[in-house]
Amino acid sequence: MAFIDKIFEKAKADKKTIVLPESMDERTYAAAEKILKEGIANLIIIGTPEEIAKNSAGYDITGATIVDPFNDPNKQKYIDKFVELRGKKGVTPEIAKEQMEKDYMYYACLMCKCGDADGAVSGACHSTANTIRPALQLLKTKPGISSVSGFFLMEVPNCEYGEDGLFVFADCAVNPEMTKEQMAECAAVSAESFESLVGKQAKVAMLSFSSKGSAKADSVTKVQEATELAKANYPDLLVDGELQLDAAIDMKTGQSKAPGSPVAGQANTLIFPTLEAGNIGYKLVQRLAKAGAYGPVLQGLALPVNDLSRGCFAEDIVGTVAITAVQAQNAQ
Ligand code: ACO
Repeated sequence: MAFIDKIFEKAKADKKTIVLPESMDERTYAAAEKILKEGIANLIIIGTPEEIAKNSAGYDITGATIVDPFNDPNKQKYIDKFVELRGKKGVTPEIAKEQMEKDYMYYACLMCKCGDADGAVSGACHSTANTIRPALQLLKTKPGISSVSGFFLMEVPNCEYGEDGLFVFADCAVNPEMTKEQMAECAAVSAESFESLVGKQAKVAMLSFSSKGSAKADSVTKVQEATELAKANYPDLLVDGELQLDAAIDMKTGQSKAPGSPVAGQANTLIFPTLEAGNIGYKLVQRLAKAGAYGPVLQGLALPVNDLSRGCFAEDIVGTVAITAVQAQNAQ
């Protein structure tokens, strides 16, 4: 069974409520129709009656809960929560109301924060930064986690590497330049993501252009120190570095460049040293190897919120909603 079909089955087994704030985009309704028909999640769509009528024509979204942000009996509760969370940052009831009406992603995050939804998916017509910022400001990180990062679950066809072609790549979405502390934490959080979605043990490689001291540069030192931190802070984590990509995934190269490493040659969870490397890396594999790229999936948030690419298809929204629902099951 393909990775995403297993995720659909998991999502259906314990249905969660996911909020979709992009009522201004037709793809939301195409996705909603399929999600509702197949029973992948319960849905809340945020939008005015005019927005919904204009953009949902031709789609059957019976069963979705519609929340009109200008006429919602729960709105004051969300305004109060917004002010409670961001009052010290200057958010007054007037600013909260205006922000929620202008940007439904704030509304969606407040619904999650108040327990009225289990997760949110946005980004089909908003930038990554605009999708992530409300979640960072309102939902914050899980206890014990200091930094949110973003991964792609890569499914490479006909591939003997990773877990039969399945990998987690991180950070591909959030932090332009992770510190060594963030990189170490990203290794542990990514391993958890891999294990919860794929159901197999994560083997984490800290990537560089150097393997075990073969090159010297400040950027190599950062990855070496991040690896040591990850080993010290997460003693149960199977992690090694610094490794070049070929040493990380190919057994013969791994044995030659990093002999004795418990990860080299078998890595299925790849931690990139910068956002540039991670973002370019996943797109190379997606395009050249025709790999499935599910994400970016955010990890480390207290509640699951996920981003979409603006070039996404309705089918991608369905997949991201299912992944978000499974993350919500694990967040309980
Ligand atoms: N983890 C946890 N909290 C964070 C993180 C993080 N990684 N980054 C920022 N925050 C918090 C801040 O502490 C701040 O909290 P506060 O307001 O309570 O003090 C809040 O989030 C806002 O932070 P800012 O730095 O003011 O927000 P900013 O909008 O400048 O940056 C953002 C955050 C949006 C994530 C930024 O780092 C960014 O734009 N990253 C790149 C996103 C991107 O374009 N990715 C590539 C495209 S994705 C793709 O191709 C699929």
